Amino acid sequence: MSTLTQALINEIRSKVNIVDVVSKYINLTKRGKNYFGVCPFHEDSDPSLSVSEEKQIFSCFSCHTAGNVFNFVMEYENITFLEAVRIVASFAGIKVDSIKPTITKNNALYDIYEVSNKLYLNNINTTLGTSAVKYLNNRGFNSDIIKEFEIGLAIKSKDTLSKILLSKNFKEKDLINSTLIVKDERGFHDFFYDRIMFPLHDIDGKVIGYSGRVYYETDSPKYVNSKEHPLFKKGEFVYNYKRAKNECRIKNTVIVMEGFMDVIRAHSVGIKNVVATLGTAFTKEHASIIRKMANNIILCFDGDKAGAKATMACSDILIKIGIIPKVIRLEDDLDPDEYILKYGVDKFNEKINNPISIMDFKLNFLKSNKDLTQTVDKAAYAKEAMEEINKIEDEILKEVSLKKLSHDTDLDIDYLKGFITNTPKVVKKDLVVKTDKYEKAEASLLYYMLKDTDVIKMFDSKNIYFPTKEYRFLYNEIKCFIKEFNYINEADFITYIDSDLKQYLNNVISLNLDDTYDTNMILDFINAIKEKNINDQINRLERELENTTDIDKKTMIGQKMIEILRLKD
Ligand code: UTP
Ligand code: MN
Repeated sequence: MSTLTQALINEIRSKVNIVDVVSKYINLTKRGKNYFGVCPFHEDSDPSLSVSEEKQIFSCFSCHTAGNVFNFVMEYENITFLEAVRIVASFAGIKVDSIKPTITKNNALYDIYEVSNKLYLNNINTTLGTSAVKYLNNRGFNSDIIKEFEIGLAIKSKDTLSKILLSKNFKEKDLINSTLIVKDERGFHDFFYDRIMFPLHDIDGKVIGYSGRVYYETDSPKYVNSKEHPLFKKGEFVYNYKRAKNECRIKNTVIVMEGFMDVIRAHSVGIKNVVATLGTAFTKEHASIIRKMANNIILCFDGDKAGAKATMACSDILIKIGIIPKVIRLEDDLDPDEYILKYGVDKFNEKINNPISIMDFKLNFLKSNKDLTQTVDKAAYAKEAMEEINKIEDEILKEVSLKKLSHDTDLDIDYLKGFITNTPKVVKKDLVVKTDKYEKAEASLLYYMLKDTDVIKMFDSKNIYFPTKEYRFLYNEIKCFIKEFNYINEADFITYIDSDLKQYLNNVISLNLDDTYDTNMILDFINAIKEKNINDQINRLERELENTTDIDKKTMIGQKMIEILRLKD
């Protein structure tokens, strides 16, 4: 068994039948071409989950969870992608042990990242790194911290890393796969340049990605993160896992923050049981990694409103898997880094030692924008609070929270108890997928593109573009997949894309459209998209027209509008 490449992942997938695997977990009944069962991913009693033997994917038309065999096992068992690959491999009779050493040792991607890390670490210690080091020192990160977190530098030149990597014996495919090198018309160049590089380590402590930060005034985004690849999934990534692991076990507590800078700050003042996600939304996969680190989880997100919202969302994910986190809130909208710098480590430690209970936080959050002397606000508060209380399974916490709510609202506790519903094991996901006519056309077109490359050719010949950013990305990814593997299908494509796009792909797949189609149908979708392109362009020109006083320019814009409108028929 060689390395865990996309190709190997595809191969493992093709060795099992999704129907057999899903049947190990839930009952399936065959109806027509597909198999149906009760979806385990939302509260349900109807068979809304369909499994396609032909396409080797599952999708729920109620909660829009969809995916291939790995996704099913991942979601059902609450485990990471890699763990799911191992389990599925064992179903396929591929010896699980034979994958483990290959993904921890001989993988070219690890080697590529090791080479890059050496370069970045070296750069920061040269004269080219002076101002980067100065920036870090100014933020209070000394050379020990820079060393410990392996902070490095990608210099201004855009091909330093490419040249080094190309001179070694790496396969071009692996280099591109690593996402550190980009290939376009002009050749190879580096994905990261002119940024301070914070390496991202996997749970075994190997570098699998970077976050690059700007270190002087510029319009570029503050942080750029590595793109996802087989070893790096943002939705499963936990920053500082390896360094924090032992400390978390000793203290039996893990503190979760929003930014890795916050983690580095906390660590540098001696608080070492701290991890962070990568600025992406907290996922079930994050939860299942973090829950294994310690029994107590403390959420210490940014002190602003967004941080409070993120705390709500994150705690809901944890509560769903039976974990009741505690919360720290920071004053003045500060993030942990800023708080420690402003108020000192002692005050911060005081907070850690006295975290608030999740229900106190939630009730306070719901109260924060209400005036409880007003009847309407009071009623709204009671309703929203009951919704939160209904999410908890812990009977004692439920009772205590009801008491508090009763006290806050002057409503009798027995009256409030009338609103208790039986807590579903898995709370319903957001089932509403907002789509208009145009979005529906985009999704439908992608649906058929995954089936037949002729549809892609038809689309390409029309000189139009997907109006929705995420669907445009999906379309690009489809083309990249085909270029690399010379075929396309839903089941393999799912493991190829970034987790950010997964929900959009789920929307596409769970459309469950008729698999036979004719050219006219495709043309209808294409025309809808064309219409939307035209409307968007006209709107843009209209805005331009409003904002200009120059007569010549106005005439030019007017002519452009006429030309575009002509395209309409
Ligand atoms: P913040 O904007 O809170 O950054 O984003 P920060 O941690 O306070 O960083 P400093 O102190 O300004 O240096 C939190 C996290 O969101 C991600 C990063 O992972 C960051 O740690 N992020 C933020 C991005 O990925 N891109 C961005 O442009 C901004
Ligand atoms: Mn910050």
